This record gives sequence, C-alpha cells and structure tokens, in this order.
Amino acid sequence: MTTKGKKIPRLIALIGFMGSGKSTIGRLLAIKVGYKFIDLDTLIQNKTGKTIPEIFKLEGEGKFREYETEVLWSQKDNTNAIISTGGGAPITSANRRFFKENVYTIFLNVTLDEVLKRTGKQKERPLLNQPREELESLYNYRLPIYLSLANLVIQTDKKTPLEICQEILEAF
Ligand code: S3P
Repeated sequence: MTTKGKKIPRLIALIGFMGSGKSTIGRLLAIKVGYKFIDLDTLIQNKTGKTIPEIFKLEGEGKFREYETEVLWSQKDNTNAIISTGGGAPITSANRRFFKENVYTIFLNVTLDEVLKRTGKQKERPLLNQPREELESLYNYRLPIYLSLANLVIQTDKKTPLEICQEILEAF
C-alpha cells in the first residue's frame, strides 16, 4: 500500500520485550496507515477462552507456545495488517522463519530499566513476576534474536508513541 508517497509493507509485525509498547504502537500505526490491528495474545485468548495467566497456570508455558505458534502462522497470508506479537514469539526456530519469510519485522527496543518502570508488578504477564536477575538473563538471551530478525530497529526509551510512529513512517 502507498500512503502519501510511502510504500507501506503489506504485513508488518512488531517484536520486542514485554512492555516495549508493541500493542500501543501497533494500534496507533494501524490507524495512521489504515491497516487492521491484530494482537496475537488476544487471538490466543479468544481461541482458548482463557486469559494468558490462566493458560500458563493450567496448561503450562509449553502449551502457550504451541498456541502462539498456531496464531502467528494463521496470519501468514493476511494483508494490510499490523501484528503485535508476544515478547516470546520469536524464540522458536519455526517462528523465526515466520518473521524472516512473511512479514516486515519492526523491533521495538527498550531497556530493562524502562520495562520495569512501565510495567511494575503485574498479574497479566506471568513472566514478569520473577527476580530482576532472571529477567535480565531472559532479556539478554532474547535481545540478539530480536536484532537478527529486524528489518527496522526503533529505540523507544523516552519517546512518546506518536514520536515512535513518526520514526517508523519515516523509515518507509
Ligand atoms: C510473553 C509476553 C507476553 C505474553 C506472555 C509471554 C513473553 O506478551 O505473550 O505473557 O514470553 O515475553 P507481551 O510481550 O505483549 O507482554
């Protein structure tokens, strides 16, 4: 699609750590370019009739990852859409292939300090409820994976959602 002379990729995925702003930015960007907004965690909750914490508690993280892979790949042929993905979506090789082959991938980068500032103690994100040291190792493990998949990297600390969207639009 072309908006004011800009070529917008047909399918865009936002990746990044929990609290990086994928849903907020995805929603705003979708409005700006006239695309649909799709949130994978919402698709999982609709599909299972359970909340994310319920799935983690009752079925375990492994089952959650299976649902995540299914809903991610269900978007393969979608067009004119922005997909917000869960922070752990790119960890399996099957899902990494999805990002490499099917979508324009934007990595919303954020420091761990900023994540903790934005999110605080949370019930909706089971993986955030662990000691900082463990979160740090999860963060450090995922960072190079996000970077390796990104067509575009945006540093988000200290920027408003509007500024981030502008930066993305300027990159097209
Ligand atoms: C997860 C991130 C969450 C959600 C689930 C697991 C992760 O999504 O998918 O709690 O592994 O980082 P957000 O990144 O939108 O918080």
